[in-house]
Amino acid sequence: MAAEVLEALRPRPGGRYADGTLGGAGHAASILAASSPTGWLFGCDRDGAAVKAAEKRLAEKFAGRFEIRRGNFSEIAKWMEVGSCNGVLLDLGVSSPQLDSPGRGFSFQQDGPLDMRMDDRQPQTAADLVNGTNAEELAKIFWEFGGERESRRFAKAIARDREQKKFGTTRQLAELIERISPRAGRKAHPATKIFQALRIAVNDEIGSLKRGLAAAVEILKPGGRLAVITFHSLEDRVVKEFGRERARDYTFSGEVDVPELRQPRVPELKWVTRKAIAPGEIELKENPRSRSAQLRVLEKM
Ligand SMILES: C[S@@+](CC[C@H](N)C(=O)[O-])C[C@H]1O[C@@H](n2cnc3c(N)ncnc32)[C@H](O)[C@@H]1O
Repeated sequence: MAAEVLEALRPRPGGRYADGTLGGAGHAASILAASSPTGWLFGCDRDGAAVKAAEKRLAEKFAGRFEIRRGNFSEIAKWMEVGSCNGVLLDLGVSSPQLDSPGRGFSFQQDGPLDMRMDDRQPQTAADLVNGTNAEELAKIFWEFGGERESRRFAKAIARDREQKKFGTTRQLAELIERISPRAGRKAHPATKIFQALRIAVNDEIGSLKRGLAAAVEILKPGGRLAVITFHSLEDRVVKEFGRERARDYTFSGEVDVPELRQPRVPELKWVTRKAIAPGEIELKENPRSRSAQLRVLEKM
């Protein structure tokens, strides 16, 4: 989505940008290149390894034009001046280095500790959640964050198995799911949604996103743009609802939007494109992981 992100944020010399999800700094580098020679970027990531890699990459070409901090983008308004930014990018989800390192425990395709923390300073791991949450709560996590139809069945099976042996590895969990729900020619591994749900819960991804969107709008200047890349429908729904709420030209009192109870107001944001932008064919070929990516762009009024 590199070209689409640049089109959305329109980086220019002298502009100030923020990347809340630095990862390997691919997008950050292209924003800095496009805003040469005087554009400036603040970047953050919860992942210490990503922060180190990004720092190294950006220092090679853009020394003096960026600042990096390790932390959750939900706190970005504490680190950047309110109303100071021309563009903010949130490229959500996990990075390839996170998914591809068995030691991080994000993937059911490789064996590793059942960890899944983006920020390893945080105490709670996926194993803690799987071993210490009651079956009802686990089922709720699988359903709400994974849309897993068999959430109750899986949660009960986990609660039964862990009485014999606590879950410690990704393989142990993936094998249990496969045992009770054999793959039987299905394209996706039966543990896909369970792993997604656990990852979202361990990292409080939805809570961080809701707080992060509000913080991103705070640091934007009028006319500044917020670009968000989501990877599943749950994230996309949060972005859509946030945008819809802030782009409405009225508020309403009470729980339900009834025309008689509407109060006019100046909207805070407007949608730059009505529909989400999907990756093009070339990108899909080069990077199959981008297949579920969707970009939404909002502009501060
Ligand atoms: C899809 S990758 C970003 C890739 C990056 N845009 C690039 O060009 O290489 C997502 C990154 O966001 C980070 N991340 C996810 N949620 C975060 C949050 N709430 N706060 C800070 N970083 C977060 C992850 O640790 C991961 O490194």
